[in-house]
Order: sequence, then C-alpha cells, then structure tokens
Amino acid sequence: MAERQSIHGQWSSRLIFILAATGSAVGLGNVWKFPYITGENGGGAFVIIYLLCIAVVGIPIMMAEVMLGRRGRQSPINTMTTLSAEEGASREWSLVGWSGVLAGFLILSYYSVIAGWALAYVVRAATGGFGGVDASGVQSLFNDLVGDPERLMAWHTLFMLMTMFVVAKGVKAGLEKAVTYLMPALFILLVVLVGYAMNTGFFTQGLDFLFTPDFYKLLHSCQVVDGVEQCEVSGSPILVAMGHAFFTLSLGMGAIMVYGSYMPKKASIAGSAILIGLLDTLVALVAGMAIFPIVFANGLEPGAGPGLIFQTLPIAFGAMPGGQFFGTLFFVLLVFAAWSSAISLIEPAVAWLVENRNMTRIRAAVWLGLVTWVLGLGTVFSFNIWSDVKFFDKTFFDLLDYLTANIMLPLGGLLIAIFSGWLMKKESSRDEFAMRPAGYSIWWTLIRYISPLAVIVVFLNAIGIL
Ligand code: TRP
Repeated sequence: MAERQSIHGQWSSRLIFILAATGSAVGLGNVWKFPYITGENGGGAFVIIYLLCIAVVGIPIMMAEVMLGRRGRQSPINTMTTLSAEEGASREWSLVGWSGVLAGFLILSYYSVIAGWALAYVVRAATGGFGGVDASGVQSLFNDLVGDPERLMAWHTLFMLMTMFVVAKGVKAGLEKAVTYLMPALFILLVVLVGYAMNTGFFTQGLDFLFTPDFYKLLHSCQVVDGVEQCEVSGSPILVAMGHAFFTLSLGMGAIMVYGSYMPKKASIAGSAILIGLLDTLVALVAGMAIFPIVFANGLEPGAGPGLIFQTLPIAFGAMPGGQFFGTLFFVLLVFAAWSSAISLIEPAVAWLVENRNMTRIRAAVWLGLVTWVLGLGTVFSFNIWSDVKFFDKTFFDLLDYLTANIMLPLGGLLIAIFSGWLMKKESSRDEFAMRPAGYSIWWTLIRYISPLAVIVVFLNAIGIL
C-alpha cells in the first residue's frame, strides 16, 4: 500500500507524539476526577477495578486507536470511512467518528468550566487567599465560587478562549514546549504534596483508603444520610471505574486516533501506548496519595464530590512554608494539564471541518468554540441557579459526565475494538503495528476477546442483568 500522508502535518518524532498524547491523557481526569470518584465509590476496590480496566481494556484500545489513526491519516470520521472501504466493511463505521465528535464536544463543554475553577484558584492562591485557612474556610471559598454564575462564566470564557487559541494555531506549534516542561513540573509538585500528606499523621489512613479493597462497596452504593451510612445494591461503581479508564486515557472518541494520524510511520505503537498508560496512572495515584490523607486529617468527607481537590489542597498550601508560591504554581500547572487535554477533545472535529468543509483551522476553532461555550453554560448553572433541576436524579453536569464517560466512551471503545479485532484483516493491523509476533498475539487476543467482553459484561452488570 502506498503510504498515506496527513494534510495536517506530522509530529516531528515519536517523542513528540508521546508528549502530546500524554498531554491529552494527563489532565483534570487524573488530579480532579480520579480522587473524587474514588472517594464517592468507596476507595480501594474501585481503584483495583480501575487499574484492571486500564490494563486489559484501556491500553489495548489505545493501541487500536493509534493504529487506525496512523493507517487512515485523517480525522477519525474520514479515517473510519477510508479504512472500512479498504477492509470491506460497511461505511456506517464512520459513525464511530461522528459519535466521537459529539462526545468530545459534550465533554469539553464541562471540562472548560472545571478548568475555570482551577484558573480562579490560581488567582486565589497568588493573592494569599489560602493563608492559614481551615477545613470550613476552604469549603466556603469553594461554595462562594461555584455559587456565583458570573464568576464561573468569566473563567469558563477565558479557558475556552485559551483552548481555541492553541487549536487555531495548530496542535503542534504551542504545545510541544508546554508538555515537555510543565507536565514533569506538575508531577514534582504532586510529590511535594505527598510529602506534606506524610506529615499529617493520617498518611496510612489515606493509603488504606486508596489501596485496601472493600468489595462490598463495589456492589453497593453508599451515602451518608444524617450521619448514618446507607447502602443499596448497585452495579454503578464498576461502570464508573471502567468509564474513568476511558476518560483518563482520552479513549473512545477519536482524540488518540487523530493524534495517531500525525504519528511518524516508524515509531512503535505498543511501546508508546504502554508508556502513556503508565505515566497517566502514576499521576492519578500520586494525586490520590496527596489528597486522601488531607481529607482524613481534616475530618472531611471522601465522598464530597467534584469539589474534593478544591476543598483539600488549599489547606495544605495554607499551612506549608512557601505555600503561597507552591499553591499558585500548582494551580497554574493544573491549568496547563487541562489545556493540553482540552485541545485534544476538539481536534477530531477541527480536522474534519478542515478536510470536508474546506475551512481554515481558525474558522473551525472559532465556530466550535462558540457552540461549546454556549453548552458549557448549562454546567455553569447546574452548580448554582439550576442546582435543583434534576434529570434522572442528576444535575445537568452530572448527567453530561455520566453520559459521556460511562456510556459514550466505552461504547466508542467497544466499536473500535470490534472493528480492529474482527473486521480489519489481520495482515492490515499486523502490518501497521510492525511488532514482534508474540506482542502482536497478545494484543490481538485482548482486542478481539477480552476488551470487548469486559466492556459488555460491565454494561450488562450496570443495567442489572449480570
Ligand atoms: N484524559 C483527559 C483527562 O484525564 C481528558 C480528555 C482529553 C479526554 N481528551 C479526551 C477524555 C478524550 C475522553 C476523551 O483529563
């Protein structure tokens, strides 16, 4: 086969691909979402399921996405159309690309609002707002922020503008430096926070929560009502753990596929995917190790919800020497991590508009940004004026998050696994991976049987059939 080229350009090396994909993977999912959903779902057992999903579902599907992207060399929609024709499969497979575009747009709409919180906290930290605050002090700081739609809107607007700016310039230009220096810096700061957590006297309790499994909590969802814990049978924590494996690795919507389409031909797909998966997991676990000891040391609730890191870390910054500096730096780095993730959420749609509608990147970015911004207002209001408006017992934000992370991404991933394991000819995937036969067989077994089965079993379990 003559080698296809992407009209959008190519990463200059394998390292740049790894940096960009790690930049996409490491974001709010690791530092903000992982700790709070772990807290809500009972800790250790949830973490084990999450790790298992990363290994048997996430990494094989990441390899599949990169492989498909590099072979198709276009936006996920057109890549799926081209490859399905080539492999003799139905054209309808381009639906995988379409649902990915939709999922990316839905996720970005709320991702930007949460990244806005981090922006707000940069200013808070820099102006000494955390100095000496206690647990109730940080709680009211947080509640004041999310209760104020105008402030949330302003920060959401700023973050969307930042995202559109980088997307308009092209993913390669601004991004490479950001990920080369800022990601390692974020990681080092998280380790500093773990150091602080070790001195709270509650470090082992935090680790216990994170790593000692209580399988009862996996099959039951528990809520503290008037100081008493009430539990009911629910398959949901397992689904949430799997959904998060997709979310945190940026899988199931074409983000990694489109990054793969810019990957140089010679680079190893398997090695890259394993490395990205390991780095991403490491960041999440270190964030958890920093946060839970602070939760217990201050009598906070692990299941506090989406505000968890914003109600815990400022206590540490308020108490530690140099906290004003470290606090500011931490939230700046968190914003950068979110920034390098956000652009990948919208890149598949931008690439498609450039390919099929002959738009410039700038126009495509502006239009998509505008629509996403409007939808984001729903999330802004779900924390204040619409906090009582519930759909299926969930706020607008909770619903969007649930629908995308726990349903759309695993479904997208399932289809990608079926396409690459069952419809694509073995010669094609083997040719694209160009890896050792043993490694290829492991991937093939996983993608053909294990990953799809795991997703199906978890889905059936969640709706109460298994
Ligand atoms: N993985 C990112 C995080 O953990 C979020 C993200 C970026 C994402 N691109 C994605 C999630 C694509 C799902 C799909 O913060």
